[in-house]
Amino acid sequence: MSELRPSRRDLLAGTLAGAAVSVLATRSFSALAADPAPPAPVPVAPAGPLILLPLPYADTALAPVISQNTLSFHYGKHHKAYVDNGNKALAGSTLFARQSIPEILRATQGKPELAAVYNNVAQAWNHQFYWQSMRPGGGGAPSGRMGDKIKSDLGGYDAFKAIFSKAATGRFGSGWAWLVSNKGKLEVMDTPNADNPLTLGLTPLVVIDVWEHAYYLDFQNRRADYVTAWLEKLVNWEFADANLG
Ligand SMILES: [Fe+2]
Repeated sequence: MSELRPSRRDLLAGTLAGAAVSVLATRSFSALAADPAPPAPVPVAPAGPLILLPLPYADTALAPVISQNTLSFHYGKHHKAYVDNGNKALAGSTLFARQSIPEILRATQGKPELAAVYNNVAQAWNHQFYWQSMRPGGGGAPSGRMGDKIKSDLGGYDAFKAIFSKAATGRFGSGWAWLVSNKGKLEVMDTPNADNPLTLGLTPLVVIDVWEHAYYLDFQNRRADYVTAWLEKLVNWEFADANLG
């Protein structure tokens, strides 16, 4: 069975193993959309391709905006369940044996019989991207290239804050708000449930989780306060810049 096990490089390229994965998966999808020659397929191990990576910081590091209680449950229970259930849904299937994360999502979206694959794979990817979208001491207006892009594409940081906050607080029920690159131009969007911009050919830059499990222990029903604090204290602009390519 050893030949079926992915190499570390395969895992990095095809699943959820860190910042490189997010960028690779996104770029792979972008390249697929723009280039008529498809990239080399990325192997996915039938035994379980999704990986629960360690958090990129201590579970106390985002307090007081996100408490240790929230972060430990969110990561250790919710994210872990998506990884475990995604691997169960993929186990033994040859259908996705050599597909990347974006390809799996595009192949399963909107198909009720494949909802377990779609929802869990997307949520595993979304959560890994969310952890990386935050850092202790983050937040505030970005400088450098991200600052310039936000000014030219979205009208400046204050305008961005208003647009992003409206997307994050206006998303009815569970979902996500994203800053994305659409062929190099910054845009803000929100998605319901497990959906993400990969299936639309967009490049995610940062994301905020607005499912209630992300903030209810700390903010109860005050989602707007969570979004404001996230923008002021946590958003990781260095990660956004790296994803911009
Ligand atoms: Fe979540």
